[in-house]
Amino acid sequence: MPEIETERVSKLIARAGLASRRAAEDMIAAGRVAVNGHVITEQGLKADPLNDRIVVDGHPLRLSEKPDVVLLFHKPRLIMTTRDDPGGRRTVMDFLPRKWQSLHPVGRLDFDTSGVLLLTDDGELTHLLTHPSHGAEKVYEARVRGQVSPETVEKLERGVRLDDGPTAPCRVKVLAQREKNALVQLTLREGRNRQVRRMLEAVGHPVNSLRRVSFAGVELEGLPAGEYRVLLGGEVKALRKRVEGKVKKISNATRPKPPRHRAEPKTEAKASESPEKRPAPRPKVSSPPTRRAAPNVERPARAKRILKKWKG
Ligand code: URA
Repeated sequence: MPEIETERVSKLIARAGLASRRAAEDMIAAGRVAVNGHVITEQGLKADPLNDRIVVDGHPLRLSEKPDVVLLFHKPRLIMTTRDDPGGRRTVMDFLPRKWQSLHPVGRLDFDTSGVLLLTDDGELTHLLTHPSHGAEKVYEARVRGQVSPETVEKLERGVRLDDGPTAPCRVKVLAQREKNALVQLTLREGRNRQVRRMLEAVGHPVNSLRRVSFAGVELEGLPAGEYRVLLGGEVKALRKRVEGKVKKISNATRPKPPRHRAEPKTEAKASESPEKRPAPRPKVSSPPTRRAAPNVERPARAKRILKKWKG
């Protein structure tokens, strides 16, 4: 006989996108949940999502039978992260085919920020990835004006005062330093509005360009701007585990290469917009660095690669 797959009722409620796991537990404790006609108040009770009838506040729980989809999209600059823009600007949804139009972006990148953007139809995963209490790790690379000193790095890492309060401790590395600008990597667990730009501005280094290179361990890994790929089942599981605070980073060595999709903007009118509104191509190679890196600058392999790219 096939084994019946049961799951905690709180988890099923969260999976349906109705509430976070914690809030679902509160709903159960408050007597708002019934399974097969019986109100439950006990935590940890399991149910079979296919055969048991779960009702919340009198409404049957709708559990989708299809597996949750998570897309990794390389957001180009000058694209809105919203599903719709009243101002008529292009949004990330314009880059996705019809079958993925029901997905929603997880969090937000500024209009002028590029990089990793996840889209999903999984309400619980969205909550785990965006709620401050879970603190999903986000890694940004910012090209900033001026040279960044070790003292500034320390200041950023300790936290800087912004108009909506001090920032939490974070990790900062100078990846490359040139005469008039620097490439800085910041790893944050917060996600406030324009946070990276505001932090760097606050320490006297306005941002020229900003890219998110990783979100909760999901990296671009060569995915070109404007393209997306569907995360594999194992990757979604690993992602979920990471944000639930349990384990592991996806191992690049063991992961098979999934197919990629070129996501074209949908409408002709939009595709023929002025060049400055089109998705940015790959970042431009700048002129070579004119100075040796200061002794405090970290030079991991990645920084060396970036420098090599700058040199063309
Ligand atoms: N911080 C910013 O300043 N902008 C983003 O888009 C993301 C983080």
